[in-house]
Amino acid sequence: MKRFLPLLLLASCAQKPVSEADATAFDQVRSVLETNCVHCHGDNRLSTMPPINDTQAIAKLIGTSWIVPGKPEASRFFQVVTFSDKMPGAMPPSGHAISKKEVQILRDWIKAGAKLPASNVKLSPQGPLPRSI
Ligand code: HEC
Repeated sequence: MKRFLPLLLLASCAQKPVSEADATAFDQVRSVLETNCVHCHGDNRLSTMPPINDTQAIAKLIGTSWIVPGKPEASRFFQVVTFSDKMPGAMPPSGHAISKKEVQILRDWIKAGAKLPASNVKLSPQGPLPRSI
């Protein structure tokens, strides 16, 4: 039995608690939204989409057609970032698309079930407002 102990210890170290893993995954999503979306989809939102300025607000979109857990392609929230610049409704509506890496972060997060951290996290706009033309 004794020689199995180090193996057991290793296995238990590698396993992060689920909530911590979800929080880390969401950190990247948060940064994408804070630099590209929350300016217009926060407190002073301009659009039909419900606000996304904290994780409790985002939770209300999950399980609706805005964010379909496991199905990024079916999620309106994801579809709009994959539209070409010229397509009406592309997000941000600014003449520049978000980077491929950022698209991938959103995609992976929805694909993995759109998990949110256990406690509410506030999202604040970072950087300049994406141009709106
Ligand atoms: C410059 C302001 C601005 C930014 C930045 C912005 N949006 Fe929007 N968004 C709008 C406006 C205005 C509308 C309403 C347009 C409409 O419904 O035709 C909208 C609508 C939407 C909709 C609903 C569109 C539909 O066709 O159902 C989604 C989803 C959305 N935005 C997601 C995002 C995401 C994700 C980001 C960040 C990647 C983002 N938006 C960034 C202004 C913005």
